[in-house]
Amino acid sequence: MSHTPVVPVLTIDGPSGSGKGTVSALVAERLGWRLLDSGALYRAVGYAAGAAGLDLSDVEAVTRCAQETKIQFRAAGDGGGTRVIVNGHDATDELRTETAGAAASAIASMPSVREALVALQLGFRRAPGLVADGRDMGTVIFPDAAHKVFLTASAAERAKRRYKQLKEKGLNVTLGGLQREIEARDSRDASRAVAPLKPAEDAVLVDTTGMDIDEVVAKVLAVVQS
Ligand code: DC
Repeated sequence: MSHTPVVPVLTIDGPSGSGKGTVSALVAERLGWRLLDSGALYRAVGYAAGAAGLDLSDVEAVTRCAQETKIQFRAAGDGGGTRVIVNGHDATDELRTETAGAAASAIASMPSVREALVALQLGFRRAPGLVADGRDMGTVIFPDAAHKVFLTASAAERAKRRYKQLKEKGLNVTLGGLQREIEARDSRDASRAVAPLKPAEDAVLVDTTGMDIDEVVAKVLAVVQS
């Protein structure tokens, strides 16, 4: 009797600035698995809605936008990371801004928008395996994942990391402003009614405060191998 083998999934959930994005990309590379950056999908929809001049609180219009927006991930090659193409436009740089993050967080609280992105996310589960980075990967999208990690770090540490990243890109930000934005976004993401930010019951919690990226990657790989 033959049966289709289950494609293994590692979910990495956590708040913004917990190091999720970098860790997920490195772990996916080490395992040779695919990567789903689900935050980029919400950012892309927020961006597309803004570009179309939609009112971000108009649930019907934003849901239609989520259903219709064409989002593609393209490898930039030579360690250049992944480019995100939204409706044919390379929006990678715009999607990284705090404005895009805030727009994503706002539209991500709409159940119909989340629903519109489910099939797209499930489609990333292809052999030999998937690393899924987000907020609800282990709780809602891939509840049957074999490996689940929840990364955290103090808000102060996350603000510091974000500050460094954004400063390196030449953006004009303040540490205090970033920490306030991070705390506001955390509380909105954690308190929303659908798919709130919370660890799956079977997730391994990793507090990355004071840890460097290599240590976190080693810890996450150990979870997969255990
Ligand atoms: O991971 P990120 O910062 O790129 O995510 C941007 C926003 O998208 C975040 O504030 C919450 C939302 N999001 C979500 O609701 N569910 C996910 N799986 C990923 C992101």
